[in-house]
Amino acid sequence: MRSLLVGFTLAVMCITTPRLAAQKVELSIDASKTGAKIDRNIFGQFAEHLGHGIYEGIWIGPDSRIPNTRGIRNDVVGALKAIKVPNVRWPGGCFADEYHWRKGVGPQRSVTLNPNWGGVTEANTFGTHEFMDFIDQIGADAYVSVNVGSGTPQEAAEWLEYMTATAPTTLGKERAANGHRAPYKVALLGIGNESWDCGGNMTADYYVSQMKIYSRFVRNFNPAQQDKQKMLKIAVGPGGDGPRWTDWTETVMKAYQQHTWSWDINGLSMHNYTVGHWPPSYASVGFGETEYSQILKSTLEMEGLISKHSAIMDKYDPDKKVALFVDEWGGWYAPLPGSNPGFLVQQNSLRDAILAALNLNIFARHADRVRGANIAQMINVLQAMIITDKEKMVLTPTYYVFKMYLPFQDATFIPVTFDAGWYTHGAVALPRVDAIAAKDTNGKLWLEITNLDPNEPVEVEAGLSGITAKSASGETLTAPKVDSVNTFDATNTVMPKPISAKVQGGKVTLKLEPKSVTVVSVEQ
Ligand code: AHR
Repeated sequence: MRSLLVGFTLAVMCITTPRLAAQKVELSIDASKTGAKIDRNIFGQFAEHLGHGIYEGIWIGPDSRIPNTRGIRNDVVGALKAIKVPNVRWPGGCFADEYHWRKGVGPQRSVTLNPNWGGVTEANTFGTHEFMDFIDQIGADAYVSVNVGSGTPQEAAEWLEYMTATAPTTLGKERAANGHRAPYKVALLGIGNESWDCGGNMTADYYVSQMKIYSRFVRNFNPAQQDKQKMLKIAVGPGGDGPRWTDWTETVMKAYQQHTWSWDINGLSMHNYTVGHWPPSYASVGFGETEYSQILKSTLEMEGLISKHSAIMDKYDPDKKVALFVDEWGGWYAPLPGSNPGFLVQQNSLRDAILAALNLNIFARHADRVRGANIAQMINVLQAMIITDKEKMVLTPTYYVFKMYLPFQDATFIPVTFDAGWYTHGAVALPRVDAIAAKDTNGKLWLEITNLDPNEPVEVEAGLSGITAKSASGETLTAPKVDSVNTFDATNTVMPKPISAKVQGGKVTLKLEPKSVTVVSVEQ
């Protein structure tokens, strides 16, 4: 009888006890305190000749029955235009240090091999003109990585002359004969890629001697880029946080400090993937809370890495003239079963959306030094924006995060103070929330708040000073499961939906769903 009673009481309690109240997090934002500009280039993309990133993802050729403009997919262009891609880094990656531009211009293209990525043939049908046409169609700038590993300074110098010289030079005339009379704009120049590894396994000192030569002789002749819009030269930087990498940053930055009139750099690249452990073995779909929390823990290491290398840069460049370009970042997981392992094919889930938001927030908090970043990679490879299969296309959860963050492009950072609290799962403890704020170019205030906790909602109360808030609304992105994905058959599983907030007494309050990314604007 007694046990029956206990059972009955427990049952009643289960039915009548309300679900745990949402966790409460208070943010404090003084809109009159402004920080650095969040450079739109932190929303850059990376397109390497790798798997179906270029071929099929962008280039299908003019004869394809898939709608295209001069061989470039219209659906992909439309989607990328909508996220205002600031720049595209091309042609690699490791591929860049084996790329010889001449094979990819003119009516006759050489067929070569792509030994880095699956050993497949490289038709070179997507070359300089096709890349420039593509970025022109999507409205992005060119970030061209020249071949330092297996090329020569002369080859790179001639490529730049071919792209940027006005017609009277022989190379300029050749470009015109190949269909483009006006010089191309090259906004960003990568001097090699991972020269410490796939780019030639150089020592830092050896790289610096190469970097100086390339910086000096690889010139941009575009008349429009001489005084204004000057091409920024990005040197190879670190790929981790151990002594090998800190020594590399020291060596390059020390050389920069002593640079003379004859050479210069404007940026130092940094590569950091969220892998969990190497080789990549975390599944990109079909995982649970354990893998969700572990990968997010791992991605937050970006903060320490940037702080560490920024501190070294500060020693040699206290005025922060050299930008840190995180020009390869994102989740790198096990290849999807049945795919060519050299093609780096993976799914893109709600976890990736949260991972993207966390990294973008880290970049924004370091906006004074981090003025460029390129997620790897734009289409069909690693943490892609877009996945295609023949005529089909699907936009990933990461794509939607980039779309939601549009107001942060070139916005002014505003510090947010908050006690995030903790979400714990097993041995993993993560901040429950993350948040940034910024004023857009029209002076409107925007907040981004991520709820990392996959189980509990969060009640956010943002105290605002420096502005009189009247209303607030925006979009939130979540999905049923941490590994929810969009597929060709179900394209809308992970999509932003509208969210509104309450504004009262200088406070904005809103309820965040578990595992969600939210962006709201505040009307004054
Ligand atoms: O993005 C894939 C590869 O990762 C790039 O080619 C290389 O730079 C990095 O190691």
